[in-house]
Amino acid sequence: MTETVHVSLGDRSYDIQIGEGLLEKAGDWVAPLLARPRVAIVTDENVAAAHLATLEAGLEAKGISSVALRLPPGEATKGWDQFSRTVEWLLDQKVERRDVVIALGGGVIGDLVGFAAAVLRRGVRFVQIPTSLLAQVDSSVGGKTGINAPQGKNLIGAFHQPSLVLADTGVLSTLTTRDFLAGYGEVVKYGLLGDAAFFDWLEANAPKMAAGDMAARIHAVTRSCQMKAEIVERDETEQGDRALLNLGHTFCHALEKATGYSDRLLHGEGVAIGCALAFEVSSRLGFCPQEDPSRVRAHLKDMGMKVDLADIPGDLPGAEALYDLMGQDKKVVDGQIRFIMARSIGQAFVTAEVPRNVVLQVLDDALAQRG
Ligand code: GLY
Repeated sequence: MTETVHVSLGDRSYDIQIGEGLLEKAGDWVAPLLARPRVAIVTDENVAAAHLATLEAGLEAKGISSVALRLPPGEATKGWDQFSRTVEWLLDQKVERRDVVIALGGGVIGDLVGFAAAVLRRGVRFVQIPTSLLAQVDSSVGGKTGINAPQGKNLIGAFHQPSLVLADTGVLSTLTTRDFLAGYGEVVKYGLLGDAAFFDWLEANAPKMAAGDMAARIHAVTRSCQMKAEIVERDETEQGDRALLNLGHTFCHALEKATGYSDRLLHGEGVAIGCALAFEVSSRLGFCPQEDPSRVRAHLKDMGMKVDLADIPGDLPGAEALYDLMGQDKKVVDGQIRFIMARSIGQAFVTAEVPRNVVLQVLDDALAQRG
């Protein structure tokens, strides 16, 4: 079974194909995009070891030849050095304007290769083949591409939509439990921000999805991509509604900075903790019912995820310092932090009307539980 989600953006429209075994059949989907039967693949060393041969065979089956660049794995790759290496390698491979570049990997590879495709010869088409759950439900969809600067994450980049996304849910079985659950933080975010029925479904079905149930995985990735597509169609360049996708992210970015972007806290783990905090603040301000934060936390705990600041190992700064880190978020406008709050599960909204003292109180209480 393969599901298709169409992202409707005029002449930048594309399909997301979601199903098991898509790498083996990649040639079927990629061939119609090609002016000549040749592609350049950029991946990382770990993903290459697990999946590159399957993709190459899938392309070869349709007569498509390929060359591949293997970058070092990890967030440090997402900077100028590996970016210029990638662009120059693509030029050495004589990739032309009408050719297609394939990004095979997680969020780091997708973001870096998408940005390389955006600037190479002023823009070539690219295909996202995301191999992490986080990349399948979030970073491969919607056209945000870029690299990190010494001044902060994702500060250099471009909007450049892919021509196709192939989300092979079979490859998720090669992820560690921790990486899978971190990606799940972004899945649950979609239910919380805009679809209460999806959150109900996740409460009932996410444990079997984590245990490997393929139909459940396909449904969860499909619904997540549909929701992201709907929001991106309304607001491609984040002038308004797209900010809803950042539910939990203002808290998450502060916690990621406080933990030095280390493996003390993965991005998706920070998103889950951030969603729980956003619901707590929403409840204290009377935006959402009092029982909603406990329901969010109960589900995250059921899934074996990090939920509390107490679940982050090592020291954390105090509430004031965390609040200051939140003030460095990209979403700050005229010095005011814009928060994504909730009226209920499935109904998020953007507001700057969140008193500092309430956020500090919630953070203080959460830090006190660390003992
Ligand atoms: N990950 C948030 C966005 O794509 O807008």
